[in-house]
Amino acid sequence: MPDPSRLKNYSMPTYLGSPYLAFFFSAFFLAFLCALCVKDFDLALRAIIPTAMLTFELDACILRPWRSQDVEALIRHADNRNVWINVRDRFPHPYTRDDALRWLELAQTLPPDTQLAIEVDGEAVGGIGLEPQTDIERVSAEIGFWLSEACWARGIMTQAVTAYSDWALNRSGLFRLYASVLAWNPASMRVLEKAGYQREGCMRKSAIKDGRVIDRILYARVCD
Ligand SMILES: CC(C)(COP(=O)(O)OP(=O)(O)OC[C@H]1O[C@@H](n2cnc3c(N)ncnc32)[C@H](O)[C@@H]1OP(=O)(O)O)[C@@H](O)C(=O)NCCC(=O)NCCS
Repeated sequence: MPDPSRLKNYSMPTYLGSPYLAFFFSAFFLAFLCALCVKDFDLALRAIIPTAMLTFELDACILRPWRSQDVEALIRHADNRNVWINVRDRFPHPYTRDDALRWLELAQTLPPDTQLAIEVDGEAVGGIGLEPQTDIERVSAEIGFWLSEACWARGIMTQAVTAYSDWALNRSGLFRLYASVLAWNPASMRVLEKAGYQREGCMRKSAIKDGRVIDRILYARVCD
């Protein structure tokens, strides 16, 4: 069951005080009560805090849903070979305006809590997300993240991965988060270790990136 103290991670936009939204508050409260009646506390929390509004206010950054206004920042920060070389090929390079628009459109269609922007100084400078697995692996999700090179080595991703993983492992049904890191990416391994992930092994020659077949190191964090 989730720890209610984690609610301090979420903040709501000030416009929610508007009387125009009284109706929505009532509806959420009703949903909260219904969820409590069926003894699903996690569902109850999610009912009163719609995921579209999930925001994690951390010391170094804010994690919040992607917005269409992020397009310029996204192009500026994602169009970087040093980011691309460490992620899947579906992350485009070069990263064009069309790529950014396509991503922001797709992000609107995904469950909002599975893809969040990392905001620093009012600008989206990276992303973090979960890819829930299916079938018998539906208790697992793969975590993915990237950050603008301009922001590296400031502890930002360690905070982001830690907070997001803490939250994700409190979602009902998720018991395992994992990441498979290209063997040439020690910074990512370090981030995962600092966020409580354990190295589980080496997936030898399991990927090809930039024309090179490479090992990946499997990291995972499971529910206690
Ligand atoms: C990996 C990445 C997310 C790290 O983000 P970040 O905000 O710079 O990370 P942090 O500052 O929180 O921590 C980085 C840690 O890696 C360490 N590190 C950095 N480069 C390193 C290297 N070459 N060898 C060993 N450790 C290294 C840092 O010293 C730091 O650890 P420390 O706090 O113990 O000193 C960022 O570099 C990135 O986006 N890279 C490209 C995309 C990517 O790799 N995504 C992950 C795919 S699995």
